[in-house]
Amino acid sequence: MDNLHTAAATDKSNTEFPPLKKIPYHIGIIMDGNGRWAKRRGLPRTMGHRAGAENLRTVIESAVDFGVKILTIYAFSTENWKRPKREIKGLMGLFHYYFDHELGELAKNGVQLRHLGHMNGMSPSIQKKITRAVEKTAENNRLILNVAFNYGGRAEIVHAIQRIVAENIPPEAITEELVSRYLYTAGQPDPDLIIRTSGEVRTSNFLTWQGAYAEYYITPVLWPDFNKAELYKALQSFNQRKRRFGGLIDEEELEES
Ligand code: FPP
Repeated sequence: MDNLHTAAATDKSNTEFPPLKKIPYHIGIIMDGNGRWAKRRGLPRTMGHRAGAENLRTVIESAVDFGVKILTIYAFSTENWKRPKREIKGLMGLFHYYFDHELGELAKNGVQLRHLGHMNGMSPSIQKKITRAVEKTAENNRLILNVAFNYGGRAEIVHAIQRIVAENIPPEAITEELVSRYLYTAGQPDPDLIIRTSGEVRTSNFLTWQGAYAEYYITPVLWPDFNKAELYKALQSFNQRKRRFGGLIDEEELEES
């Protein structure tokens, strides 16, 4: 499914950015480079994560301004548990702080928060905060913010298979659509664009199923420096792509370009 919509990419707050023809409905972001950002400044890695968390507000607001409807952020992967205890503790502290201090503002701005990932393995207090945040913002509809936390793309698929088997669904009824309904993103369209900051060219177990036909945008900019102008560059790059979904380019689209 092509989820592009041509809703005006400009409003009052966007006057410095020329309008774009297509705005991705759903964007995923691998927020990488916090550690290097801190290192370049002679700071501990935790300070990089803090700067990264602060930057989230800018990017969320920018995404809303540009007309994006779903933003999925990779906050903590199932593999991140391998990091030093001290760094994990710092990150968990940051998540607590974020839920305590940013949620009100997000909710006020019409952001609906959803969680992608396993609850098991997280501390009961984080679980409670996530559950409360999801409930509190459930009616909001300006932007869906999927927070991938304790998330792994392969684990998500395994979890879906386990549920499908547990429900005794016959093999012939197992289609791609059915599997999609058992993922954390059930009911949401797949991402159109996946952005990775800090220059690494890997997918890192992020939206493994959903990202099958996403366009990728890799930038050397480190996550704490990825601002509205950088997001606009990603959108510009997206506008230059000819999406084919395995088929042929639409003739009309070719004529227009
Ligand atoms: C990767 O940078 C980033 C992470 C593992 C965590 C992402 C977390 C945040 C942006 C902040 C907190 C988010 C929320 C929702 C409050 P890295 O440490 O791998 O950087 P490096 O590759 O330069 O070492």
